[in-house]
Amino acid sequence: MNKLGFIDEALADLREKGLYNTIRTIESSIGAWVTIDGRRVLNMCSNNYLGFANDPRLCEAAKRAIDDYGVGPGAVRSIAGTMTLHVELERRLSHFKGTEAALSVQSGLNTNLATIPLLTDKDDILFTDELNHASIIDGVRLTKAQRAIYPHRDVDALARLLEENRSIPKKLIITDGVFSMDGDLAPLPGIVEVAEEFGALVMVDDAHGEGVLGRNGRGIVDHFGLHGRVDIECGTMSKAFGVMGGYIAGSAKVIEYLRQRARPFLFSSAATPPDVAACIAAIDILEASDEPVRRLWDNARVFKQALGDLGFDLGASETPITPVMLGEAKVAWDFSKALFVEGVFATAIAFPTVPRGKARIRAMMSAAHSAEDLKFAVDAFAKVGRRLGVIAR
Ligand SMILES: Cc1ncc(COP(=O)(O)O)c(C=O)c1O
Repeated sequence: MNKLGFIDEALADLREKGLYNTIRTIESSIGAWVTIDGRRVLNMCSNNYLGFANDPRLCEAAKRAIDDYGVGPGAVRSIAGTMTLHVELERRLSHFKGTEAALSVQSGLNTNLATIPLLTDKDDILFTDELNHASIIDGVRLTKAQRAIYPHRDVDALARLLEENRSIPKKLIITDGVFSMDGDLAPLPGIVEVAEEFGALVMVDDAHGEGVLGRNGRGIVDHFGLHGRVDIECGTMSKAFGVMGGYIAGSAKVIEYLRQRARPFLFSSAATPPDVAACIAAIDILEASDEPVRRLWDNARVFKQALGDLGFDLGASETPITPVMLGEAKVAWDFSKALFVEGVFATAIAFPTVPRGKARIRAMMSAAHSAEDLKFAVDAFAKVGRRLGVIAR
């Protein structure tokens, strides 16, 4: 009896539908260029927005932390104590975000698993955007609260759902800040307004707003000037910060509650000393200058303009995220492979990361890309786009 036959079937099904994900192995640090299969290729798909992943200042901070603190935290913080480094990161994060307090956890995914089940229980209701990130969906799965899924970015529909459920005392609205696969923004001012009208809590996952939006990359709440009106901000240090780790920022009361009860905090060890030190170094850089953020946006303008002029469908992005919409998964994978031949690394994104039939290349430049790098990428997209009939010859 083949007890694992269902896996053979599932994998064969993925291959047949063009959804099988082939993960490339990178032989270098993550920069504008990376080495894959011994070849130097232009990296157009990482979330290393500011180029911090191999920034010497972050690397140096990580090395110093290893000398001072070693490589591991030893155990979960609530049992084995917390390092001064973690306390320092939380202090710096809350200052950067303009909140009373912050809590560091191991990853962005964990921030949602930590927070959502603690804020809502079976008598409560949560309202979630239909395109929210998988980690929000997983956090939602951990609560017994009722769920109301509202159409993407539709504040009127959200208000109607809030009205229909007016009698439920505890309501929580959760949204991505920047929707990672489309690059569009949550209509946060409208969400906050209806939340205030109906007495709902608001939580935003700012994973892709961090280091990108707001003054010196302080994120979406800062971008919209909504300080004090969003109850919980979650984020990750794995994207613009170039490192690893998640944080939750909010009032001292919310953070204290999470510190006492959040399961990823209580039952999983803390981020490592070099990670934490590198995150602090990233905050140092951002607090000192908005130059990396400006460079990212300048590069985004040049790149998006050039691809748009070529006739590519770039979706509805409002940020440097550049979805090159291709439709079927197979087209996206063919496009990705052809780009690689041209020296450009940009992975195809298909279901379940995006809805079926909306496969794409999520092209991502960074502050570390030069003007020549962007031209190299645009030329490759043009060549492949014409060859595959995606744009006119
Ligand atoms: C919106 C959003 N939240 C959370 C995460 C998870 O972050 P991390 O990679 O730090 O777990 C991601 C990254 O994929 C994301 O896009």
